[in-house]
Amino acid sequence: MDGSSTPTKTAEGPLPAYRARVASGALRTDPAQALAAETLQDLWRRLRGYDPNVEEAAKASGGGGFMARFFRRKPVDEAPGHAPQGLYMVGEVGRGKSMLMDLFFDCADVPRKRRIHFHQFMQDCHARIHAWRKANPGETDPIPPLAEAIAGEAALLCFDEFQVHDITDAMILGRLFEALFARGVVVVATSNTAPADLFKGKPGRDAFLPFIHLIQQKVAVLHLQSAQDYRRDRIHGLPTWHVPADGRAERALDSAFLELTGQRHGEPRTLALLGRSISVPQAVGGVARADFDALCGKPLGPADYLALSTHFHTLVLDGVPRLGPDNFDKARRFITLVDTLYEHRCKLVASAAAVPDQLYEQGENAAMFQRTASRLEEMQSQDYLRLPHLT
Ligand SMILES: Nc1ncnc2c1ncn2[C@@H]1O[C@H](COP(=O)(O)OP(=O)(O)O)[C@@H](O)[C@H]1O
Ligand SMILES: [Mg+2]
Repeated sequence: MDGSSTPTKTAEGPLPAYRARVASGALRTDPAQALAAETLQDLWRRLRGYDPNVEEAAKASGGGGFMARFFRRKPVDEAPGHAPQGLYMVGEVGRGKSMLMDLFFDCADVPRKRRIHFHQFMQDCHARIHAWRKANPGETDPIPPLAEAIAGEAALLCFDEFQVHDITDAMILGRLFEALFARGVVVVATSNTAPADLFKGKPGRDAFLPFIHLIQQKVAVLHLQSAQDYRRDRIHGLPTWHVPADGRAERALDSAFLELTGQRHGEPRTLALLGRSISVPQAVGGVARADFDALCGKPLGPADYLALSTHFHTLVLDGVPRLGPDNFDKARRFITLVDTLYEHRCKLVASAAAVPDQLYEQGENAAMFQRTASRLEEMQSQDYLRLPHLT
């Protein structure tokens, strides 16, 4: 969501707003979050009325220097000519990073501000660069006009889920952010990845290092080390067994994955085992998503399912088919998978051709499947969903 059009102001800042939510019972007490809220309050105070003059700043940075001169509507208690340092909140999924940043964004008393998902921001940048190249065929450097446009729209940019996977993004980020900072733009971000680990292990990383150094200079890094994954609790309200495995069920699993991870799609994840490895098509934090064939249509065994069940607290499983004598091998693997998930108290959200009892009525081990079906029923209960994951 791009919240640029909401000029909401919470007069006293994010810390009182956060405390009010805790006092009302909307949020649980969390010391790590309270600490983060204090840091955000400090930034909120330094940013009150912040409005660097874009043209002045651009002129001053024309010579390449950072020493942009700012003309401010209201004085900001910072050394003149310097934008307040931004904030980069890093932590695991479900810790409340986005919640805190949104609270800060709503309170921020900055005339021009914008909150955007980082992935969406990058897509927007590429689209603008494309349009600029078309309109200016003779010119070669799209970054200054791009930075000019972005800085003209917002002096405070709040990015949700800062992440760099793409080389085309990595290549423009350094110069783009240098130009944005030179124009006085203040950046606040949430991320699962510390700046020092961005784009790690990817080809072209060396050329990306100046960007990391720039971020570390312009933005303070705060590790939100909340003990609690608040998102994990969300499974309680969710239906966990969807029949039949049609388009509607797929969309239900999409939204369950989004609810549990805050992201529409995960990244592939490889778990190393003794002597080999198992790949999961999509994962975010402790949540994995795979379709039935990826886990039971290949020769995987108990050790693979064990790795899966200890590594992930929740599995979102697409398309469990009706099983019979023709695919007893898949049935056998599915039995082992469910047993292992159950023993480790993993939570399962699945789409299937039938209710558990009717999934495997004939074939080798069909009698044994009765126990699996009963476990699958139990795994849908609120009591089971409340059990802690055993690793
Ligand atoms: N202290 C808390 N008490 C109760 N719920 C919380 C608390 N902190 C966060 N949440 C909720 O948990 C969910 C996950 O938080 P979110 O900010 O999306 O996490 P992150 O961005 O770190 O993945 C959200 O619905 C959020 O409102
Ligand atoms: Mg988030």
